[in-house]
Amino acid sequence: MTPMRVLGIETSCDETGVAIFDSERGLLADSLFSQIALHREYGGVVPELASRDHVRKCLPLLREVFASAGLQPGDIDGVAFTAGPGLIGALMVGACIGRSVAYAWGVPALGVHHMEAHLLAPMLEAEPPALPFVALLVSGGHTQLVRVDGIGRYTLLGESLDDAAGEAFDKCAKMLGLPYPGGPELSALAESGHARFDLPRPMVNRPGLDFSFSGLKTAVLTVVREQSATSGQLDLATRADIAASFQLAVVETLTIKSLRALQQTGLKTLVLAGGVSANRLLRERLERELVAIGARVFYARPKFCTDNGAMIAYAGCQRLLAGQHDALAIHVRARWPLTDLPALG
Ligand code: KG4
Ligand code: ZN
Repeated sequence: MTPMRVLGIETSCDETGVAIFDSERGLLADSLFSQIALHREYGGVVPELASRDHVRKCLPLLREVFASAGLQPGDIDGVAFTAGPGLIGALMVGACIGRSVAYAWGVPALGVHHMEAHLLAPMLEAEPPALPFVALLVSGGHTQLVRVDGIGRYTLLGESLDDAAGEAFDKCAKMLGLPYPGGPELSALAESGHARFDLPRPMVNRPGLDFSFSGLKTAVLTVVREQSATSGQLDLATRADIAASFQLAVVETLTIKSLRALQQTGLKTLVLAGGVSANRLLRERLERELVAIGARVFYARPKFCTDNGAMIAYAGCQRLLAGQHDALAIHVRARWPLTDLPALG
């Protein structure tokens, strides 16, 4: 197969990510700008501010990856950009820039599915998982268990009926007075806490592989209120204990359902992907529990768990190599079921 060098652009939410992936040499360069400081004073992502900042950062990051890889635009064989799911204005920025540079350089362009890119991110590691596998996708907008038989060969096994795991982390972090982005802040606070509060492990006693995190969120709110009523302002140690109890409840719930998915499919490989896959306790628990049943868990290095350009360049490269590409029209979507993607091969 002719080798291919692909530029990837990610702008679906609050990180601008740009990277260059080469089908023979691997990842050549990647660069990321996080908008955390921009959104922090609002306690969450402000979509219009996100879009405007992608406009500011996209081209400088593009120049940066070309410089660090020592390449020129003429060295690029295709351009991939995130086409959804995500914030529509933010997606439009990366899609317009990606589609335009591809047109100017006379190479094909392709809109990539953000969650497919997340689930393929562990392929960027030195020891990639072999197909078929079960993927646990845990991000700010999605919690899904998916059987993966190939690129575009996805069977949805279960998903969250309400909040996503990352969303639950972010909301509970807010209840504990932590700044945006809540997930990593809550998990850092949990390090010094003891999981002494009894919180539910939602839906684990029911058959099936669906999740529900909104009841757990309410249970955390109840504990926060009770503790505030008995001791006034929550001290740091109590907040850390609540954080640790919440984190353990989410991690155990995700672990129980992942084991059930492996058992149900008969597969021995689990791929953990999406922002929450950066969570240390989740990784440790899955490693421990999977070893016990002769299975293995694979995940990306932390910077490729959360949003990044490398996963978009990688996923785009696989589909462009197979001859897939978009027409000239620019098409992005806020919602986009993973199972709608065409299969490769
Ligand atoms: O994949 P991602 O970067 O963006 C989306 O596609 O949504 O995931 C972001 C989510 C946020 O909810 C964030 O709080 C969560 O991932 N997250 C974490 C950790 N790092 C990021 N949650 C728990 N522990 C972490 N270490
Ligand atoms: Zn993401």
